Amino acid sequence: MSQAAVENVTAAEKLRAAALRRKLRIGEVVSVNGSHALVMLDEDRPDLDRVHRPQLGAILSVDTGTCIVLGLVSAMSVPAPSLDSAGKDLRIIELELIGEFTKPTAKTPARFRRGVSTYPTLHDEVQLAAREELAALFAANGSASVRIGVVKQDVAIPATVSVNDLFSRHCAILGTTGSGKSCAITLMLQSVLQRYHNGHIVILDPHNEYSHCFGQDAVVFDTTSLTLPYWMLTFEELVEILYPGRVNCAEEIEILSDLIPLAKKMNLGNSAGAAKALADRREGSNITVDTPVPYRISELLTLIDKTLGSLENARATGPYKRLRARLHGISQDARYGFMFGGLTVQDTMAEFLGQLFRIPVDGSPISIIELGGLPAEVAQVIVSVVTRLAFEFGLWSHGAAPIAIIVEDAHRYAPAKENVGFAPTRKALVRIAKEGRKVGVSLWVASQRPTELDATILSQCNTIFAMRLANQADQEALRAAIPDASTSLLSCLPSLGLGEAIAVGEGVPLPTRIRFDALPRESVPRSLTASFTDGWSVDVDDKAFISRIVEQWRAQKLLLPDV
Ligand SMILES: Nc1ncnc2c1ncn2[C@@H]1O[C@H](COP(=O)(O)OP(=O)(O)O)[C@@H](O)[C@H]1O
Ligand SMILES: [Mg+2]
Repeated sequence: MSQAAVENVTAAEKLRAAALRRKLRIGEVVSVNGSHALVMLDEDRPDLDRVHRPQLGAILSVDTGTCIVLGLVSAMSVPAPSLDSAGKDLRIIELELIGEFTKPTAKTPARFRRGVSTYPTLHDEVQLAAREELAALFAANGSASVRIGVVKQDVAIPATVSVNDLFSRHCAILGTTGSGKSCAITLMLQSVLQRYHNGHIVILDPHNEYSHCFGQDAVVFDTTSLTLPYWMLTFEELVEILYPGRVNCAEEIEILSDLIPLAKKMNLGNSAGAAKALADRREGSNITVDTPVPYRISELLTLIDKTLGSLENARATGPYKRLRARLHGISQDARYGFMFGGLTVQDTMAEFLGQLFRIPVDGSPISIIELGGLPAEVAQVIVSVVTRLAFEFGLWSHGAAPIAIIVEDAHRYAPAKENVGFAPTRKALVRIAKEGRKVGVSLWVASQRPTELDATILSQCNTIFAMRLANQADQEALRAAIPDASTSLLSCLPSLGLGEAIAVGEGVPLPTRIRFDALPRESVPRSLTASFTDGWSVDVDDKAFISRIVEQWRAQKLLLPDV
């Protein structure tokens, strides 16, 4: 190409760029205060197609000389509408300033940072943020980020999340039932696992909806395949199972706290594996009521019987008898079969942890624990033990194998009201939320009732995906939890579409409205909702139907619907 031709091409490019800028200009700054700016729009421009007109939540840019400041449209109005000539009205947009781009120099590329160092001044030109700017923003997450969807303002721009921030600083996915929370979780986990194959993820699944979502990547446990030995429980957890609410049982609890260490020591001598190592090192004396080493319920009962034999006073024997009956009852209860069912007591702790937390991963980085159809208190116990074990494993392994715990319907397990629910579960979840970061344990919570979810947990979730949420009180709870000055974005919460979310916090480069990618059909979580129309369309003509239910009822074997 000749010199003249090259100059011609560059001139044409400059012209096109100038034309583009003109096209993108939408108005000028007329007021700045703190983190807000008011923009007066230029005269209506029919040449701008609707897509390019600013909408609520759109991102605008203001060139301040040294930087390009970005702002989020938080409100728009025509303060004094005139009745005649259309298009001449004063049109005002409110901007929330969220961050700035440094301009690229020969040495340093453009960089985005939150917060504003150079404020726009009056009459600065305001533009719709260009696609390159938005794309650069989402690319600013760096290499450890994965795509989860698209930015609503310009669907050509991929929305990304920073994997480390998403996990280490916890994450909440909130929205009405059916707004797409479970799909969002599935999608994000799939995206992450595509790049990082050796995750350690546990999904606590109260609706049995995830089992088929991850194919080979997940191992599914239910109470028939999960054995969670009672001796791994802490004393508090065991007491909560034996005496929910701890009403009128102080003496029994005290007796139990004396007997359990004895039973543990009795069992240590004739044990194998890690527990044997503990015994060999003569550390048996360090065994407390909470040390997770095996012991037999039968030994506990024998100890009680011995004490009973030496007591004469009926008043003194009462608590022993009651404790014996309770221990015996719970160990025979079919609902707790997965805890007390084993015929022999073996030290299976290492295998159990390995299986549960996928260490080694063995091609399946996800454990799904199905809690659907279980009595509420049993599900509570499982959630409590699994989350506590994850934390303690992280603590003792110094976060060498980071674990993520995904809790669906988190408000059931960590309710906002202090005296509701199972105390050890809330304690375990709160502990991960507060200290999990240091020990490599991550918590993701999903809930349709942010008001009913423990506020400490919500406030520790540094990335929040807020999906459609109509309830006023729930919106308020969310507003209180959101760190950035991005609360104005939340005004569109009730009108978000399926699979859309307001993404805010550490894991995303800037607060914005995104749309999650579509999941392939076979990966969509299937929540089980009884269909009245299906059920009422046909008669139940199976004579044995009711007797089969009654039989299962009595045997305490649950009738889980086939999925
Ligand atoms: N990203 C998505 N890809 C595909 N389908 C989706 C997506 N988000 C939502 N859906 C549809 O919406 C329905 C409800 O989503 P779901 O995640 O189960 O909602 P929630 O968990 O909030 O109750 C799904 O069954 C699916 O059909
Ligand atoms: Mg769901």
